[in-house]
Amino acid sequence: MSQTEIPAGLADVPVTKTAISDIDGKNATLFYRGIPVQVLARESSFEETSWLLLKGDLPTQRELANFHFDLRSRRKVHYRLLEALKNFPESGHPMDALQASVAALGLFYPSRNVSDAAANWEASLRIIASMPTLVAAFARLRSGEMPIEPHPDLDHAANFYYMLFGKEPSASVRKVIDACLILHAEHHMNASTFTARVAGSSLANPYQVIAAAVGSLSGPLHGGANEEVLEQLKEIGSPDRVQAWLEQKRASNPSFKVMGLGHRVYKVKDPRATVLQDLAERVFAESTRPILYDVAVELEKACLPIYGPKGVFPNVDFYSGVVYSALKIPTDLFTPIFAIARVSGWLAHWFEQLQNNRIYRPDAPYIGKQNVTYTPLEKRP
Ligand code: ACO
Repeated sequence: MSQTEIPAGLADVPVTKTAISDIDGKNATLFYRGIPVQVLARESSFEETSWLLLKGDLPTQRELANFHFDLRSRRKVHYRLLEALKNFPESGHPMDALQASVAALGLFYPSRNVSDAAANWEASLRIIASMPTLVAAFARLRSGEMPIEPHPDLDHAANFYYMLFGKEPSASVRKVIDACLILHAEHHMNASTFTARVAGSSLANPYQVIAAAVGSLSGPLHGGANEEVLEQLKEIGSPDRVQAWLEQKRASNPSFKVMGLGHRVYKVKDPRATVLQDLAERVFAESTRPILYDVAVELEKACLPIYGPKGVFPNVDFYSGVVYSALKIPTDLFTPIFAIARVSGWLAHWFEQLQNNRIYRPDAPYIGKQNVTYTPLEKRP
């Protein structure tokens, strides 16, 4: 393959086969193990969806009950890990804290032999169960508050809210968080999932695999976009300022990108954005409709004639930030929440990778200098 034939960003280049999720970017469909994501967001729970992703089929009642128990009994993290979190800088980004603490979980609950299926499952339970605890603990510690112990009677979504705010969410808020977790749980061969598979292919331990994926998710072109979307909406401020803001941005930078728009695969509106917008409408019908939601709706309308012809439409991040912000969740926790959800997809891909593993080692045609003479330091100009 010549250098000019290499598609930037490996667009459309198959890197493996997968049976976990499927996307049709033209028809706006997303299936987890063959089930439409809209159905799961409406009918399922994050726990059930995680089992589906990890195991391939919906759980029986007994399997789901055991899975709930297994997760709940692994939510507490070692006190020395909480001590480590206390010593992180308060100004540090929660994604950095999450990446470091997921890797540190591997120090406290080691699982280095990836050919041991029981140990792999145990580590997966530990990681899924601990991530909300780690995110909520850092969020509280940095503001001088004590972490809140996990609540044994609450499900994954409600318990996360409880550990963050010290109170249980209403039924509708719990449902919204749960649906957000389901919608973010898996998305085919995105950058962080590919990262997890590449790290997994070296037989790295599961904590390192997930830490690598968290790092990849943190970038503003991937999971980090949801924070930037909210900053962008705040910068605009009100719906009547959308047009002027957009014109000014485009005039000052021809390659300006509207955060929350565009996707490598979807060339229509992301189906997850549609579900999230419906959820947002329902939450806001019960409480105050935030102005930032109206800004987002107006921005989507204004962008349609400009970017629609290029196949650039709202992605999942366009409305998620408005929902989280309405729940009073700090902006810099949006991407960690994405990670709390996506970990189930990452682990499902890790298991799939291990089933038929060969270490990733792609090619990169060399285009650099040839036969360069080494000049001793003292002779260099
Ligand atoms: N705003 C304005 N124009 C855009 C945007 C955008 N958000 N996204 C793409 N375009 C334009 C590009 O400039 C390009 O135009 P051109 O053909 O005239 O040069 C065309 O649409 C094609 O875009 P690409 O850059 O080729 O798309 P790519 O697949 O490489 O990137 C990406 C996809 C990274 C998501 C991009 O759309 C983007 O940067 N979006 C903003 C960040 C964002 O919302 N990320 C979240 C993605 S979803 C997720 O990770 C959960």
